[in-house]
Amino acid sequence: MNQFEGSHILSVNQLNLDSIQTIFNVASRMMPYALREKRNNVLDGAILGNLFFEPSTRTRVSFGCAFNLLGGHVRETTGMASSSLSKGESLYDTARVLSTYSDVIAMRHPDSYSAKEFAEGSRVPVINGGDGSNEHPTQALLDLFTIQKELKCAGRGIDGMHIAMVGDLKFGRTVHSLSRLLCMYKNISFTLISPAELAMPDYVISDIENAGHSIKITDQLEGHLDKADILYLTRIQEERFPSQDEANKYRGKFRLNRSIYTQHCKSNTVIMHPLPRDSRAQANELDNDLNSHPNLAIFRQADNGLLIRMALFALTLGVDTQLEKYECPVNWYSRKADR
Ligand code: NCD
Repeated sequence: MNQFEGSHILSVNQLNLDSIQTIFNVASRMMPYALREKRNNVLDGAILGNLFFEPSTRTRVSFGCAFNLLGGHVRETTGMASSSLSKGESLYDTARVLSTYSDVIAMRHPDSYSAKEFAEGSRVPVINGGDGSNEHPTQALLDLFTIQKELKCAGRGIDGMHIAMVGDLKFGRTVHSLSRLLCMYKNISFTLISPAELAMPDYVISDIENAGHSIKITDQLEGHLDKADILYLTRIQEERFPSQDEANKYRGKFRLNRSIYTQHCKSNTVIMHPLPRDSRAQANELDNDLNSHPNLAIFRQADNGLLIRMALFALTLGVDTQLEKYECPVNWYSRKADR
């Protein structure tokens, strides 16, 4: 039995370097199925409850596709207004009921710690797809997986690396979870770039400091990127601000384009963003003129999300040792397999 079987995945604090490696090993074995070189039916008959009470494109669809790619079925609910939570139902009751309909549940909700509250009512494993500004553990895992792969291609490792995190570090849950995962490695340099009002929360800073890493905090982009191996950009999380006007104050403060990148970054700095990037003219935080740049890893991140989520389903449902037994050929022409 693997250590994740029957367990919730609610926070990166549940993980350590060994358990992360277990997830990454299973994720790597998912490649032929994600590329449609082979099919896999190991979860035939299983049902994922994919419950997204907050907007999502990639995370929701990749959870669903990941489950489908292992042969399982997906039942989905999107938005608060169309769910009974809007009638005053508790997360506990919703979880209690929906967990009898499902074998595993992926859940996103606007409130911090909602995933934990939901999990208390669930009879099946719950995977946190983002709870307010608190955590986004599956995004952090796919980010870490991407960082490891990108640096490995350049003959480097995570220990000793330099990461610059930019944007809304206060409300951005992806940077909270990723920072805590990085705390498990050695000798990381963090440069945290945000408006002072949107600074990384003190509890994350303490985690970084207590783990012995170095931190530089600034509100300027230019002049602080020259050492970064990884440049991790984030969106202003406008949905968490009291008003649109308040969010607009910060929109467009930090913009990366090819000219700024070329002038201020090392030639091998990897550009990451959890997506969605705000491409409206007032924001344009990551310009399209970098789209063809080989160091732009944003779409590779999203691709890796499928592998990580497939791995988490295989592990929580305890089928990680049976993958090869349930492989079968792909019957249709697939361009993905040609890549
Ligand atoms: C992120 C999120 O929802 O926290 N998106 C994602 O899941 N890839 C980042 C964001 O919305 O800005």
